[in-house]
Amino acid sequence: MDIRVLILAAGEGTRMRSQLPKVCHSVAGLPILHRVIHAMPCPVTSTYVMLGRTFSDLSPDLAQGFPGIHCMEQKERLGTGHAVQCAMEQGLPTNGYLLVVPGDLPLLRQSSVQPLVDAVTLHEPDAVVLAFEPDNPTGYGRILTENGAFTGIVEERDASPDQRLIRSVNTGIYLFNMNCLPAYLDRLNNENAQGEYYLTDIPGMMADDGNNIAVVHAPDPIDFLGVNTRVQLAEADSIAIHRKHQELMLSGVTLLNPASIRIEESVSIGPDTVIHPNCHLTGTTTVGNQVVIEQGVVIRDSAVGNGTRILPYSVIQDADIGDDCAIGPMAHLRPGSRLARNVKVGNFVETKKVRLEEGVKASHLTYLGDAEVGTGANIGAGTITCNYDGKNKHLTRIGKGAFIGSDTQLVAPVTVGDGAYVGAGSTITKDVPGGALAISRTRQTNIPDWAARKDKP
Ligand code: UD1
Ligand code: CA
Repeated sequence: MDIRVLILAAGEGTRMRSQLPKVCHSVAGLPILHRVIHAMPCPVTSTYVMLGRTFSDLSPDLAQGFPGIHCMEQKERLGTGHAVQCAMEQGLPTNGYLLVVPGDLPLLRQSSVQPLVDAVTLHEPDAVVLAFEPDNPTGYGRILTENGAFTGIVEERDASPDQRLIRSVNTGIYLFNMNCLPAYLDRLNNENAQGEYYLTDIPGMMADDGNNIAVVHAPDPIDFLGVNTRVQLAEADSIAIHRKHQELMLSGVTLLNPASIRIEESVSIGPDTVIHPNCHLTGTTTVGNQVVIEQGVVIRDSAVGNGTRILPYSVIQDADIGDDCAIGPMAHLRPGSRLARNVKVGNFVETKKVRLEEGVKASHLTYLGDAEVGTGANIGAGTITCNYDGKNKHLTRIGKGAFIGSDTQLVAPVTVGDGAYVGAGSTITKDVPGGALAISRTRQTNIPDWAARKDKP
């Protein structure tokens, strides 16, 4: 049986008071619309997304992120019924079933939508409405029944005081038999409080004509929290983060004081890793097994290998850290930092666009930018790669097993050969051959008895 999905995401989202379309706001680090797409049931024949004002901005990204998705455009926003009419005009196939899903339900899970598809497979009704019972039904369309049989949906703004007492409400998710739907779309009018063409009118019109309409009640009301305002956005975000933390803990990750931690949806973490309070792990970060991430660490779009330890208040972005490394406290790994295994990057060390090979140590107060550092090299405290001449960035190469004395400036482009030594306090402007010692500081002069003499007239 053909089941096609139509996600309605063309609304202006005016209640968000934002330049950004509502469905592009993030919940736990993923755009709301992406979350809805991930929650679609199986099997579906194809998925369509109805976009509005931002069609030209959004459709290329969607097509790239979700191959096979068809983007459509609702040029004027005249209501949810009008959105489906536009989809028909733009070539939505007219056989099988259509699953309509609002694009603003970020907590939706596949398990909540699947019963609808299963109901169709079993009974082949003309339409199925997915309903739920929230603690507070305010704002939702109410499900009307007579003697237990479905008679229609009334929007909050059009409902009588008695109808507003009804607890069973519309999720905005329905399945329609495409044999019936087109005729009813043609009959929709906008004579209601909002002057819109409501899709919610159609199940009632179908029921009036004696069609077979099923109402399925979803068990978990949280899944249908619609985001219309930033208050609901924050609510959805904390629920999604909480779910993510539960999932990680059940898979073997220890979270200390999870309420203080933020781990977003696309982060993956291996078992026996321990995350201390106040850490933020976001973007497409992957963390291995038996990693320890201590208090207040911020990691975005990075990879952390097995057995690595990250000490408090380190900040890591677009970096790739190997196994068994030691980072921080207060290290700053900026984009393009690539650390092989067993590397130490200590306190107040900043790295950017560097490759540090196995066993490299930069333990204190150092800046390494645009550099390649060979296996086992030791970078003394206060070493700086002077990578920028005011116009361009240049590369510093430090060979295997090299020893860079403390407080060295390496003026790039420059190469220090394998096994070479640089004396502390040097400014290195010329290449140092492998095995050599380079020193570029003035010789020390000692003036005997100077202290005793200095105050004498
Ligand atoms: C809608 C339902 C309501 C239900 C609630 C569940 C209608 C008339 N009402 O109300 O019964 O309880 O969802 O969350 O459908 N959209 C378009 N084009 C438009 C208008 C809206 O694509 O012209 C999209 C929006 O982007 C949104 C979805 O449809 O994703 C629902 O629209 P919204 O305005 O949020 O409807 P609600 O007032 O929440
Ligand atoms: Ca809504």
